[in-house]
Formats: sequence, structure tokens, C-alpha cells
Amino acid sequence: MKIAVMVSGQGRGSNLGAIIQGCASGEIAGEVALVIGTRADAPALQRARDAGINTSVVSPKKYEGDDNGYAAALLRVLERANPGLICLAGYMRKLPDGVLNSYSGRVMNIHNALLPLFGGKGMFGEHVHRAVLESGMKVSGCTVHFVDEQYDAGPIIIQSAVPVMDDDTASTLAARVLVQEHASYVRAIKLYAEGRLRLEGRRVVGAYSAP
Ligand code: GRF
Repeated sequence: MKIAVMVSGQGRGSNLGAIIQGCASGEIAGEVALVIGTRADAPALQRARDAGINTSVVSPKKYEGDDNGYAAALLRVLERANPGLICLAGYMRKLPDGVLNSYSGRVMNIHNALLPLFGGKGMFGEHVHRAVLESGMKVSGCTVHFVDEQYDAGPIIIQSAVPVMDDDTASTLAARVLVQEHASYVRAIKLYAEGRLRLEGRRVVGAYSAP
């Protein structure tokens, strides 16, 4: 299975790194065929180039107010790679409908909290962890989900929880969650590549079954 990974801004690409490693180790029956960024100077794109992976930059700024144009530009790049799965990994925007329609059920995202809490517009990076700390919750974690037309709202595939410690700051909590993000994303992609995930209404079945 060919995988396209999308990152945005100056994304550092640690989830991308985990996915590349998951493919290299054979855990994921697939290969990262393309990484698409919104800016040429993203460290994530450099990480991809270092691994010998094709990269493309499609700048949404160039298509400000023209969602269809942005979608068409993304689709042109995606069609060349013909991915079976698109993984958003630090892609901080809403994927345009044109792309979602063409790759329906084949787009995943990783979020750094336990959805449906602490998601939606503006909830990214340390904002999320700060909101968790302010809420007083004693657990946080990460969520891998299929992407639909709403922010952080598609069917949940895998979640992993971590404790919130008394002395946590947004960055210590982020670091604890990030470890789980890498493992969860690789596992979700592995299951998908093996055809083990099934959608039943809003529920994704196949990641949590009795042995
Ligand atoms: C992660 O925290 C992910 O949950 C969120 O964006 C961040 C990307 O980090 N969607 P990285 O670039 O993969 O290190």
C-alpha cells in the first residue's frame, strides 16, 4: 500500500518519522510514497528527502479563498503517487472537500488529545495540552481517526490514554502524549493496510477485539 503523508507549516515530522520507520521495519505493509507540505522549509519535508521519499509543496496561500483550486492542485500531486491511504501528520488545516471526496474513507489524522474532547478549530499543538491542564482532567492521550468534512470529528480508530501529572506543563504532557501518538498511528495504519478496519455507522471495528 502506498501512503501519502501531509504536513503543514514548519511541521517537525515526528509522526512522519514513526510512519517511515513502521514501514521500514515491516510492521506496516506499505511504503511512504509521497510527503506533501504547505511550505518548502518544513523540517518534516527534509526528513522525507533524507529518507529518499518524494516530496511536493502545495501552498494553500496561493489558493486563498479558492478551495477548489487548492483541492485540484493537491489532487494533481496525489494522483501521480496513487496512494491507498493519506495520513495527515501535523497538517493543521481542513482538507478541502475535493480531496476528501476523491479519497473518501482513505484519509486518517492523528490528534494529540482524546477526541471528541479538545478538538476543533484552533485546537492544535500546545493549545490542546494547555486546555487539558486547565480543565483539570486526570487523563489525556491521542486519537487516530478517519477524516471527514469536519475538524477532528471523523470515526475514531484508536485512542491511547496517558495520566496527567500534578506537576505537568503543556510541554511535559505533550512529550508523554507524543510517545503514544507514534505507536498509535503506526498501529492504525498497520491495521488499515491489512484490511482489518471496518466502518459500522460511526464506529470503526477491528482495532479492539478479544484475542
Ligand atoms: C502532533 O502532536 C499531532 O497530534 C498533531 O500535530 C502534531 C504533529 O507533530 N496533529 P509531528 O510534526 O508529527 O512531530
